[in-house]
Amino acid sequence: MSNLDFIYKRKSIRKFKDTQIPREDIVELLNAATHAPSPKHQQNWHFVVLQNKEIINEMAEIVAKSHENIGSIAKSEKDQKIHMSVLKYYTAFKNAPVVVLVYACDYKMIEYKILKENNASQEVLDMLVSPQSGAQGIGAAVENFLLGASAMGYGTCYMTGPTHAKLEIEKLIGIDKKGYELMSMIALGVPEENTPPQPPRKPLENVVTFID
Ligand SMILES: Cc1cc2nc3c(=O)[nH]c(=O)nc-3n(C[C@H](O)[C@H](O)[C@H](O)COP(=O)(O)O)c2cc1C
Repeated sequence: MSNLDFIYKRKSIRKFKDTQIPREDIVELLNAATHAPSPKHQQNWHFVVLQNKEIINEMAEIVAKSHENIGSIAKSEKDQKIHMSVLKYYTAFKNAPVVVLVYACDYKMIEYKILKENNASQEVLDMLVSPQSGAQGIGAAVENFLLGASAMGYGTCYMTGPTHAKLEIEKLIGIDKKGYELMSMIALGVPEENTPPQPPRKPLENVVTFID
């Protein structure tokens, strides 16, 4: 057994037991999240923890409604069918006892400012932002949270699907943190028995290139 087992045993959990999570465990996981690397150490994240069942359910209804609205304007029946078939993945947080909303503010890039002030072309400016450093920092923080939760015996699901309803969600939550935007959410709880296994990975040789 390698000591990376806590990584290999993590899988997305979409069904949870009706068991509350002690606040100190949630705090520990948030602390682990903030120990992630972030670009220029800007720590451009903010976490909002939801534990109120009614709010979580209402949020799931909001996401389902937004999902249906988008489906209803699909130009083909095929697109509509595909879109509606993933609804359960967009509302998978609905029976989680804890949902952590992950917000981000802009990553401030000095080179962008300098080049913009020197009339750099849009092409050059777009190239600078395309690595999306701010979003990558959020991903690192979320992964710390997920791995920590796995090590503590909890189940999680990293979710960006529901963010198509971010404006309605923000209204529901009543968070108005200037400059911050909802990027993703984490469903957290004790996993139900017999959850599906982790899906297989592409073979390493398909996704890795060694240059000797
Ligand atoms: C950025 C990101 C967004 C995701 N969004 C969703 C989502 O909205 N709903 C969902 O059910 N799973 C979501 N997932 C989970 C993936 O579906 C899952 O990680 C993938 O299928 C591999 O399965 P595993 O996590 O069990 O290894 C997301 C994962 C990532 C990294």
